[in-house]
Amino acid sequence: MPATEPALRGDSAVDPRDNTRGPKVRAMFAGIAGRYDLLNRIISGGRDQAWRRLAVRLANLKGGERVLDVCCGTGDLALLFAAAQPSPGSVAGCDFTPPMLALARGKAQALGLALPWVAADALRLPFAPESFDVISVGYGVRNFEDLDAGLRELLRVLRPGGRLVVLECTPARGLVGAFARFYINRLVPFVGNLLTRSRDRAYSYLADSIQVFPDCNALKQRMLAAGFAEVTWRRLNLGTMAIHVAAKAGA
Ligand SMILES: C[S@@+](CC[C@H](N)C(=O)[O-])C[C@H]1O[C@@H](n2cnc3c(N)ncnc32)[C@H](O)[C@@H]1O
Repeated sequence: MPATEPALRGDSAVDPRDNTRGPKVRAMFAGIAGRYDLLNRIISGGRDQAWRRLAVRLANLKGGERVLDVCCGTGDLALLFAAAQPSPGSVAGCDFTPPMLALARGKAQALGLALPWVAADALRLPFAPESFDVISVGYGVRNFEDLDAGLRELLRVLRPGGRLVVLECTPARGLVGAFARFYINRLVPFVGNLLTRSRDRAYSYLADSIQVFPDCNALKQRMLAAGFAEVTWRRLNLGTMAIHVAAKAGA
């Protein structure tokens, strides 16, 4: 968290500082599920799939590895992992918003892929310890009610030597950040709330949740404190996003 509290829009039904917001986050995503992909393409200028592809590349996937995409939403990142499997492994997606999962399932079926899509809260994953070689989270950890507990839960289901890949928006600072802040705090809420007709003003929540989210170094420190080792990150899109890659110690 920055030393001074950032000014938030505060017009969303969901407050990103509320550590009991899970049910509201679920209802908010349920409300925009049908237009979620369209808005991603619009507000990213068509770049969002390229960012997900880079996350898959940085995961350095090896043949036969088991991948879990947490907060999979409509499935885009999980499906890119499935396409990148060098030899048959397994990819599963999990999310706690059923309408998002239904869209993911439909996309996979259209591609002839039978991936498991699991309805689950990232803070209480229904998997045994050390079940996965790679865990990814795309634009999801920002929504965790408790970031530290969520990171520890991801660590629990990752095998020793496994990798966590987190693609996330980061608070934009400095001169370059001025335009980014205007874009994310003003234009995105206007266009996003309008086109999704979001009652919860989901795209105001997007802007506010980015403002209060840890910066790259702070997120690295939180990952280390949760028990991950060797955390690196790469900035994207003028520093408004980053991909963190963290390893679980041991092999
Ligand atoms: C911004 S979307 C990201 C979807 C997808 N990963 C992508 O790249 O587009 C965030 C997703 O995280 C899910 N989510 C948020 N908090 C969650 C939690 N605690 N457990 C499971 N899913 C969660 C929401 O339901 C939503 O589908």
